[in-house]
Amino acid sequence: MSTNVDHGQWSSRLAFILAATGSAVGLGNVWKFPYIMGENGGGAFVIVYLVCIFAIGIPVMMAEVLIGRRGRQSPGNSVRALALEAKASTKWSLVGWVGLIAGFLILSFYAVIAGWAVSYIFESAAGNFVGASPEKIQTIFNDLQNDSSTLILWTTIVLAVTGLIVGKGLKNGLEKAVTYAMPTMFLLLLIIAGYAAINGDFAQTIRFMFYPDFSKLTFSGVLIALGHAFFTLSLASGAMMIYGAYLPQKTSIAQSVVAIAIADTVIALIAGMAIYPIVFGNGLEATAGPGLVFVSLPIAFGQMWGGIVFGTIFFVMLGFAAFTSAIAMVESAVAWLVERLSFTRGKAALTAVVSLWFVSMLTVFSFTGAEWAKLDFVFVGKHVSNYFELIDHLTADVLLPLGGLATAIFVAWVMQKEAVAQELNVSEKVFSVWYVTLRWFTPIAVLFVFLNLIGLVSFSS
Ligand code: PFF
Repeated sequence: MSTNVDHGQWSSRLAFILAATGSAVGLGNVWKFPYIMGENGGGAFVIVYLVCIFAIGIPVMMAEVLIGRRGRQSPGNSVRALALEAKASTKWSLVGWVGLIAGFLILSFYAVIAGWAVSYIFESAAGNFVGASPEKIQTIFNDLQNDSSTLILWTTIVLAVTGLIVGKGLKNGLEKAVTYAMPTMFLLLLIIAGYAAINGDFAQTIRFMFYPDFSKLTFSGVLIALGHAFFTLSLASGAMMIYGAYLPQKTSIAQSVVAIAIADTVIALIAGMAIYPIVFGNGLEATAGPGLVFVSLPIAFGQMWGGIVFGTIFFVMLGFAAFTSAIAMVESAVAWLVERLSFTRGKAALTAVVSLWFVSMLTVFSFTGAEWAKLDFVFVGKHVSNYFELIDHLTADVLLPLGGLATAIFVAWVMQKEAVAQELNVSEKVFSVWYVTLRWFTPIAVLFVFLNLIGLVSFSS
């Protein structure tokens, strides 16, 4: 059902860029990118990742923002309106719905991990990492994951703050939050990077991140790079479509999207350059996995001069990054509730975060190892052992690639070329390169990756 709700618009191009960069930059950049880079051999992985961002991520993001701006509604309703415009089946609205659902599901576990970051602000400020043995710090992390009441407390706080920001509306909530949070986050990141460069092993970091050793790159590393490119740019999660729906008509989609993708990439690389000198300088492993930020880094901060202050700054920075992503993930659902049920924004935000709270319990109790949260089956090519693994795999490996694929097909094959060209409004040359990429390269690359994942074709090494 299409509606005529006017959601309003960003007050400037900068507001959109800050909000979309805020969505893009998050736990994915600071927590996930450094550890998957570490696990997949450093420099060579970075190169593949950059290719995925520029050759696949940017074209898809342009398509999503374009859909949003032309439709001006929540993702499902926008795609539906454009399908009608193209005289195609309204079943295409599923493309928008998959995004909205993916964003919602991602937030259900993202809020739990964001909760760890927020709780670490207090752990660090209280001096709990100072001089602590690696075992003690591992115990702090394990205890946090095993203790349901603590996890629930922090998850509730994260969702409540997210709901408060989103409930205040576009200009007073989202826009204000990103205007303060993004510059602060960036400044804090630079402070940590400077601290790391002075006190850690910067030379080894540069060698590790920028010297490509292709013998360390596996085919599964390539798949991880592509999946992460989607996640880090917030693609196929409703976020870029809904943020595009608030974009003023005269703003250039292409220029803004390139700026957002570059900002996201630069921040991921700076995060690596902030974390690895500290890790290497303290003789810790690059391949520490998900514990890199929550175990290795606190161990290092605990040993270093000024560790309390800089450790606390680090987790405040991570918290800011997480919140500006969380608001983007829930916004599509909120816009839909406003359209469909005529809710006020406040009521819509409350409804969304309360529903999310219940779904996030699946992740909380997966971490604590509750019997009822255990699973044991193969789902789309991967064995899952609890609800968290199921939701993580369903979103990152299934909904995101398929959503990206469907978006590319919808814009490049279903929408009328003239409508697309009019909305994008770029030079003919830029348009043809983008259009051909979206028509051919993106679907083939994504399909190939997806088929490999579910085991229909295999190139794994
Ligand atoms: N891009 C965010 C990150 O890298 O942490 C995650 C994310 C945000 C995914 C918003 C999806 C989304 F809609």
